[in-house]
Amino acid sequence: MSAAVRILAIETSCDETGVAIITDGRRIEANVVASQVALHAASGGIVPEVAARQQLRWIGPAISEAHRLAGTDWRDIDAIAVTHGPGLIGSLLVGVGVAKALAVSRDLPLIGVNHIEGHIYANWLTDDDPSSEPLEPPFPLLCLVVSGGHTQLILMAGHGRYRLLGQTVDDAAGEAFDKVGRLLGLPYPGGPAISAVASDARPVTRFPRARTAGRFDFSFSGLKTAVMREVEGYRARGEPIPVDGLAAAFEEAVVGALTARTVTAAEEFGVAAVALGGGVAANRTLRATMAERLNGIPLLVPRPAWCTDNAAMIGAAAAGHFRAGERADRSLRAVPSLALPWTTG
Ligand code: KG4
Ligand code: ZN
Repeated sequence: MSAAVRILAIETSCDETGVAIITDGRRIEANVVASQVALHAASGGIVPEVAARQQLRWIGPAISEAHRLAGTDWRDIDAIAVTHGPGLIGSLLVGVGVAKALAVSRDLPLIGVNHIEGHIYANWLTDDDPSSEPLEPPFPLLCLVVSGGHTQLILMAGHGRYRLLGQTVDDAAGEAFDKVGRLLGLPYPGGPAISAVASDARPVTRFPRARTAGRFDFSFSGLKTAVMREVEGYRARGEPIPVDGLAAAFEEAVVGALTARTVTAAEEFGVAAVALGGGVAANRTLRATMAERLNGIPLLVPRPAWCTDNAAMIGAAAAGHFRAGERADRSLRAVPSLALPWTTG
């Protein structure tokens, strides 16, 4: 058997500073995530300049901490991987700049990774059983990537072969959670906060489901407006706002929309499995509803900690590119709107 490939991966696309060390494309030796959630909670959302400055502050310590946890030094690393988009330009530039500098100074191959691809490959991460053979994803695989910045339904015919079936026409699912969380007076980020208060509550209303021109597209901005109208109605009547019940009704509507499109696509394309990824995939109601409605089609979901942004998933996605001989060089650029190389068939 060939020696294990060990990748040091860097993720700085938004407000988490992630550094991970991964072997065999899926086994985590270290996964450091320095989160700025507490900082952004004070401002009620992400301030890009603040996020970039924090990335710069934490990237060095996070790299040292990853080596310490894995018991490695630079001689043990075979390649450096970095998210080069999509994301916030100031944040991306920190990771890309540091990765390029390290690749040159340590004479290591460099691999640029698309953040969305990372969210998909989070499904094959493991931190136990070092002897386990790398699992192959089952193809065709339907992926639902739902995060603060993205909502995409992707059909994967094989490694590196992505077909975009649909996406949000306005807000991302996580963005909707965050905005509605703020409307309901819940702490940032809204996703986990809404999920927590909704878990024991009964929906107080049924929000209408948005229609979209594309059968597999999503729309969440109308839902946000509907929640706002409800809140204003309670206020105008001088009644207490049923935060938990509204949160439950909102969550039900988002989960309903995500699940309906995904199940239809899974059946229509006869997929071998469905994989979730991105911060919203940590949502318990989404995970449970999807499993139930898929009616026997296998469902893959990363652990909640691997759904939200981390570098381990970037290392997992990079491993395939490394094996395929793909290498980036000093011309690698941070691209805020980087798309996957979409196929049409
Ligand atoms: O993937 P991620 O960490 O960052 C992006 O790439 O955007 O996703 C963050 C998003 C936030 O909008 C957050 O509110 C949402 O994921 N989120 C959740 C949950 N945990 C995080 N949304 C719903 N339920 C959750 N449990
Ligand atoms: Zn993400």
